[in-house]
Amino acid sequence: KIVESDDKSTDLMWHLASVSHQDRVAANGHQGAVMWFTGLSGSGKSTLANAVDKILHERGASTYVLDGDNVRHGLNGDLGFSDNDRVENIRRIGEVSKLFVDAGLLVSSAFISPFAEDRTMVRRLLGDKKFVEVFVDTPLEECELRDPKGLYKKARAGEIKNFTGIDSTYERPISPEVHIKTAEQSIEVNALQVVDYLKDNGYLN
Ligand code: PPS
Repeated sequence: KIVESDDKSTDLMWHLASVSHQDRVAANGHQGAVMWFTGLSGSGKSTLANAVDKILHERGASTYVLDGDNVRHGLNGDLGFSDNDRVENIRRIGEVSKLFVDAGLLVSSAFISPFAEDRTMVRRLLGDKKFVEVFVDTPLEECELRDPKGLYKKARAGEIKNFTGIDSTYERPISPEVHIKTAEQSIEVNALQVVDYLKDNGYLN
């Protein structure tokens, strides 16, 4: 059948994979999973995600970082910061994370992901064991002091609308797998807290 352009994947069939997820996990020597870093702008999500990624990479793990630089400039370049666009942003990143996890990678995804319902949606998509929520808990006042990109200043001046923590909501995780209070410890210690969680919970052999 010729698929019409407005058909939505109705005639698709799944192919059986000749290399299974378990084959990939066995070859890698670790589980595939996503570390989902969530927190305010300027909380240190990307810094922490990259620090964790470096440690895991140096241990020989297959890893990847997903963050605004490689997602909002490309795949999600059509999305802004309205509530609807943020929901779609996280939905797509959840799907991409799922593919990478299926490929056997330890993925560090660093997005504000302000809405609890969307984080739960990704958790359901991946399954509990493959979704490690890491709350990068930095108080708004501290993020605003750091203001690495000058965005809080602009948001306070009304030059940016819908800015998270100012005039757009951030819903704090209730029971994240890992809770990092960035203002209290060094980046190295924070990164090791995440890696220790992975070790203690059977993600790393
Ligand atoms: S979200 O809420 O998960 O869809 O956001 P995310 O994809 O992580 O993008 C956050 C980065 O975009 C910049 N930015 C804004 N953040 C929040 N609110 C508004 N209105 C906004 N406009 C631009 C900002 O630099 C965020 O980067 P981080 O790394 O989080 O500081």
